[in-house]
Amino acid sequence: MDIIVTGGAGFIGSHLVDRLLADGHEVVVVDGFDSFYPRALKEANLASALQNPRCRLVELDIRDAARVKALVSQARPDAIVHLAARAGVRPSIEDPGLYADVNVRGTVVWLEAACQIEPRPRFVHASSSSVYGDRRDAPFRETDSVDLPISPYAATKKACELLAHVFHHLHGLPVTGLRFFTAYGPRNRPDLAIAKFTRLIDRGEPVPMFGDGSSRRDYTYVGDIVDGIVRAVDRCRDHHLYNLGNSNPVELSGLIAAIAAALGKEPIIERLPEQPGDVHLTYADIGRATSELGYAPRTPLAEGLARYVAWYRAARPDRA
Ligand SMILES: NC(=O)c1ccc[n+]([C@@H]2O[C@H](COP(=O)([O-])OP(=O)(O)OC[C@H]3O[C@@H](n4cnc5c(N)ncnc54)[C@H](O)[C@@H]3O)[C@@H](O)[C@H]2O)c1
Repeated sequence: MDIIVTGGAGFIGSHLVDRLLADGHEVVVVDGFDSFYPRALKEANLASALQNPRCRLVELDIRDAARVKALVSQARPDAIVHLAARAGVRPSIEDPGLYADVNVRGTVVWLEAACQIEPRPRFVHASSSSVYGDRRDAPFRETDSVDLPISPYAATKKACELLAHVFHHLHGLPVTGLRFFTAYGPRNRPDLAIAKFTRLIDRGEPVPMFGDGSSRRDYTYVGDIVDGIVRAVDRCRDHHLYNLGNSNPVELSGLIAAIAAALGKEPIIERLPEQPGDVHLTYADIGRATSELGYAPRTPLAEGLARYVAWYRAARPDRA
């Protein structure tokens, strides 16, 4: 297949690009190298993929409607995997307008571009566990109400799900939305907890632990998420929505201990108040993804962290 991956230089996107190339597809990577974290890290993410003659990079801003439409009508992809977004819950509280613009307007640009070609490409897009809001009852199912997000980022992801359904309904676009639950692994985004905690523990610096350490996240290894994305692309028709999680949430204090064990170092913990916008729990019910996609996450946290730490030691992303 010919596949466009937006955000393909990012953490999840670059792993997906590697997998699609390994599976024999032709891949166009679209990325604007936004300033959220250093360009050098994203270039390193893509370095091996760009050696492959079946991969090409188009650098553009996903909101540039004229260039996006020209690219889609020229490339005529079989599928578009739309991952580019301004990610991160806490920074979205500082700049909600930017998040709405990149995430919501940017997604509409791609939905419109996808609907100008026949046959319609499959459209698979990244949503997030954050749409479930701050809940204590779990696990989270796709049929649950997601009307109470608690961060601008979460609200933009819910808005994208709604808009994707509109384009499916009005224009027959085959659409699958995927709610990722805290991805981690090599090339981890540097703002995410696992990357930050690894850097701090490795340097012998205090690790900020927000709240009492009992908040829980459904950490999901990036290779398992990528496997779920590939399965969703293969089966994308009509309109579907899936949780892609690990269905095994881990407490923050347990995560810190597991990273310390993977590094072979003792953590110094600094207790801080809970952060606004952070939810207490994420926990995916993956029954629908398992039965309809054959999705089956298989990487235990200790194994995934060991792979992350091995990559961290080899790549030294903290020097970028
Ligand atoms: N990492 C997670 O745990 C997680 C969880 C839930 C959802 N998601 C979603 O998955 C997707 C990928 O996340 P990630 O963690 O790989 O993030 P990332 O920041 O590593 O990747 C996003 C990529 O999009 C690009 N981008 C951002 N704004 C752009 C713009 N205006 N034009 C062109 N490119 C732009 C960035 O340069 C980056 O390479 C995002 O949609 C994110 O919201 C991620």
